Amino acid sequence: MPTKSRLFITGGVPLQGTVVSSGAKNAALPILAACILVKGQYTIKNVPPLKDVMTMLKMLNSLGVRAELIQGNGVMIINDRKIRHIAPYELVTAMRASFFVAGPILARTGFAKVPLPGGCAIGTRPIDIHLKGFKSMGVDISVEHGFVQMLTQQLTGARIYLDFPSVGATENVMMAATLAVGTTIIENAAQEPEIIDLANFLNSAGASVKGAGTSTITIEGQSELRGQNYAIIPDRVEVGTLMIAAAITKGDVFIEGAYADHIEPLIRKLKEAGASIDVHNNGIRVYGGNELNSVDIETMPFPGFPTDMQAQFMSLLCVASGTGIVTETIFENRFMHVNELIRMGANIRVDQRQAIIQGVGQLYGAEVKITDLRAGAALILAGLAASGKTSVYGLEHLIRGYHDLPNKLQSLGANITSQ
Ligand code: UD1
Repeated sequence: MPTKSRLFITGGVPLQGTVVSSGAKNAALPILAACILVKGQYTIKNVPPLKDVMTMLKMLNSLGVRAELIQGNGVMIINDRKIRHIAPYELVTAMRASFFVAGPILARTGFAKVPLPGGCAIGTRPIDIHLKGFKSMGVDISVEHGFVQMLTQQLTGARIYLDFPSVGATENVMMAATLAVGTTIIENAAQEPEIIDLANFLNSAGASVKGAGTSTITIEGQSELRGQNYAIIPDRVEVGTLMIAAAITKGDVFIEGAYADHIEPLIRKLKEAGASIDVHNNGIRVYGGNELNSVDIETMPFPGFPTDMQAQFMSLLCVASGTGIVTETIFENRFMHVNELIRMGANIRVDQRQAIIQGVGQLYGAEVKITDLRAGAALILAGLAASGKTSVYGLEHLIRGYHDLPNKLQSLGANITSQ
């Protein structure tokens, strides 16, 4: 189904069947940025063909790395030319994750000029932790006319303590360190599965990254990295969204290829709310027509409950019985879906970083607007559970991060069309 300007959902159908998860956006973006570091010709497989991924491919091509989508969700990389220093303004401002190229450009050339990525709808999202890490590695940094200029005679390994386990900062510093002179130790590192995937890719190219997935990562700098074919992990946020789709519609869905250890907090919370979940070697089954009970969630860095699943879980709490409290600790403005859910009959009160949701049992269809990526998924889930027709506008946010979600839901029996 082509993604057009809006979706129409007629709710109330219990989803049934098997669906395959796509590759992880949040692993693909840093791994593609890391291709700046990794010379040679090779293929990255299981790359979801999303708008944000296309932006990263444009970025790579503009910096001198040939990157081309090939059949079967692969990207062919040819990195055999000189790397350019300046990241184009329109690409960095279109997608915050473009700032991932800073560490790799620095490591390859010693000089990077990258526009400030700015804030986004869910919060201000500064880059101070990334820059502090680079500074410790011997980089002079200045911010002028909206650009961050980074210059170093010799990128040097250092012991770096992150003030917060930022996913992006951990990845940027890790990438820079792979070609630095000496050893870098990142303390209070983020532990997300996407960090492990990036480390595995770098190691497959000859890097020495140890401890990824723990709070201390040690990187021994190498003189050169050479690429091999690599496949990206499944998208745990897409998996989680499909799990909630099964639970909220009281359906029976098997998500093939899903890794349970990437989504453990969601499994725990869904079970606590009354859903039945079986973990298999080759995927996760969510089923059972049980009534859902309210539970509380608090977002935290991995292995805590992911902020990227908060909005979708809130949709489930809207139709559960009792009162649930959602505490968002990672981003300061990630409750924009609340007003839209209220349009569908939800009873939610926001008090600073907490949303108090009084379950209403049944939502009703309404016209709603997507404000950011995960909020979009939350509104679709609410529409699947609601009585009557929901029209969802603002699909440009959804296609940034979900590959074919409407089609995947339709294949499970959802009554969902685009126009
Ligand atoms: C990544 C994910 C995003 C997810 C987030 C948290 C990608 C492409 N995106 O974003 O989907 O929601 O992790 O799991 O992987 N912060 C600072 N200074 C910094 C860096 C971050 O204050 O230098 C703050 C941010 O404003 C935010 C918090 O730290 O409040 C978490 O940010 P971070 O972990 O860096 O998230 P991203 O890497 O941007």
